[in-house]
Amino acid sequence: MLEEKPVTSIADLPPQRAANPRSPAEARARFFNTGNGFDVQLPEVPDHVFTEEPRRALDPATGTGLIPCDLAAEMQSAFPATSPLVMARYARVRAGETLATRFNSSGVIVYVMTGTGEVACAGERVAWGPGDVILLPGGVETDYRAEGDDAVLWIVDNEPQFALENARAPAPGDAPTAVVHYPADEIARQIELIYDIGRGEEIAGSALIFSSEGQEASRNVLPTLTAAMNSLPPGVTQRPHRHNSVAVSLVIRGEGCFSMIDGRRKDWAPWATTVTPPVSVHSHHNEGSEQALFLIIQDGGIYYHARTMGFEFVDA
Ligand SMILES: [Fe+2]
Repeated sequence: MLEEKPVTSIADLPPQRAANPRSPAEARARFFNTGNGFDVQLPEVPDHVFTEEPRRALDPATGTGLIPCDLAAEMQSAFPATSPLVMARYARVRAGETLATRFNSSGVIVYVMTGTGEVACAGERVAWGPGDVILLPGGVETDYRAEGDDAVLWIVDNEPQFALENARAPAPGDAPTAVVHYPADEIARQIELIYDIGRGEEIAGSALIFSSEGQEASRNVLPTLTAAMNSLPPGVTQRPHRHNSVAVSLVIRGEGCFSMIDGRRKDWAPWATTVTPPVSVHSHHNEGSEQALFLIIQDGGIYYHARTMGFEFVDA
């Protein structure tokens, strides 16, 4: 028989239970302590670059449907997740077909990679084309219809955040956003305005940040998510910095571009989804000959609200 190791520290104690539970509710209680209560080791968020998923989404042989960017296994997440609180997926919609979705989230950010079509959501219809960004309320049936050619979309939301709490999406009409459309030509005009006016060194890059009438006070796209179109002229490096939010990004244009993440070089690939882990020191580099463009979704709203964004420049 194995001899039990003597317990000499509270760190060695197994989870404790009530000695004489008088009810099922008392029997469910568990007790930890300062020695053993904080030793749950979660795997770090991987600095992953998804390239196979966009390849499949852009393959004409792929049928109408969703292709998730799922790192649940790597992060030991009990539910699908691209980062602990953010979910990204590609969608291919064949010409003349409709993709119906209903995500368990508070809102959904869509980027149109290729194709034209129409989305029907919450009693509204939006006609979209390449380069458009669309913000939709979560929790409601949304129909994406492609017209003319097959369409490929990038769709991001906060489903893992809801899954973590076993929470249901807001009821129809209660989501924190209405339908909002940011057409490609307006996005281009807004980016041009940013470059025309210029900025000081204390401003981290030249990103266009998406918000809406309903979220104007928070300056976010959703209470917990931020969305920004970041651009990087040829030959330019974005100052190394870090923050507590994760970044899940779509490379829209990035020939000759790479990121440095905690000293590791991560090369960009066309239409890749990249994950920049929270707290990592990162910088983005454009060694190509054209302006780089990437759409960044962060769970930054959570950190702004909790006053724990932890943004700082980390210059070498
Ligand atoms: Fe960043």
